[in-house]
Amino acid sequence: PIIYVVTPTYKRPEMVAELTRLGQTLSMVQNIHWIVAEDSATCSRPITGLLQRLGLPYTHLATPMPDVYRKERYVPRGVSNRRAALQWVRDYGKNTGVLFFLDDDNAIDIRLFEEMRSTETVSMWPVGLIGEYTVSSPVVKNGKVVGFYDGWPAGRKFQVDMAGFAVGVGYMKKQKKVTMPYIAGHEEDGFLKSLNININEIEVKANGCTDILVWHTRTAKNPLRNLNIESHQNDNIKVLTDN
Ligand code: UGA
Ligand code: MN
Repeated sequence: PIIYVVTPTYKRPEMVAELTRLGQTLSMVQNIHWIVAEDSATCSRPITGLLQRLGLPYTHLATPMPDVYRKERYVPRGVSNRRAALQWVRDYGKNTGVLFFLDDDNAIDIRLFEEMRSTETVSMWPVGLIGEYTVSSPVVKNGKVVGFYDGWPAGRKFQVDMAGFAVGVGYMKKQKKVTMPYIAGHEEDGFLKSLNININEIEVKANGCTDILVWHTRTAKNPLRNLNIESHQNDNIKVLTDN
């Protein structure tokens, strides 16, 4: 089965670096389609160049977050763009395919793709370097998920990170109201609830959820302000230009 890897991203000084690193990792994986979904009104030129050079199948989308959410105290990150990618997968994705959300700043062991490739409904595995417990993982008993180990329960039914699950495209298309809410911290839980999956039906991956194959790494913010990414005139020599 093909894997649709959905990466939300947005313009800031680290964007080209993050997507270069991630794209080169993804270039090592067979039979994937990378959906780079920008939280922006237009597709950034350096990212288009990167995608063309990498040579893997891709779709480049641009869908800005509505201003009303940007004003919130806790801004829900990457929702408008993930929603657009979800619509793309519903419209063009193969029923036999698998959907996986991978943030632009995370680190992944490519063996995880072969774990998730057999997903039919919803599959899960641990995510490293996250929250107060350093790992977030489904708790597995006799091969079934019975709960979650996560430092931030927050009343969530599915206490998982965005990189901790995959979904069968055919299964997703059969569900009526699949969506991701504009609620910071509850994007995963809201999306998984909309898939109508029971916890005991979740497919357990990564050696009974004992192997960590993806990490919620974060990149320190670059202090450079007012970067105009569109001003990268040369894709090979990235000249950072202030507005
Ligand atoms: C965590 C989760 O891993 C995210 O999946 C979740 O969306 C987020 O929390 C949340 O609850 O808001 P975190 O590392 O805290 O992620 O957030 P970021 O890495 O800053 O953003 C998550 C993704 O959304 C990234 O791929 C980022 O490029 C993208 N993003 C961020 C946007 O598309 N627009 C933004 O304005 C900010
Ligand atoms: Mn992040």
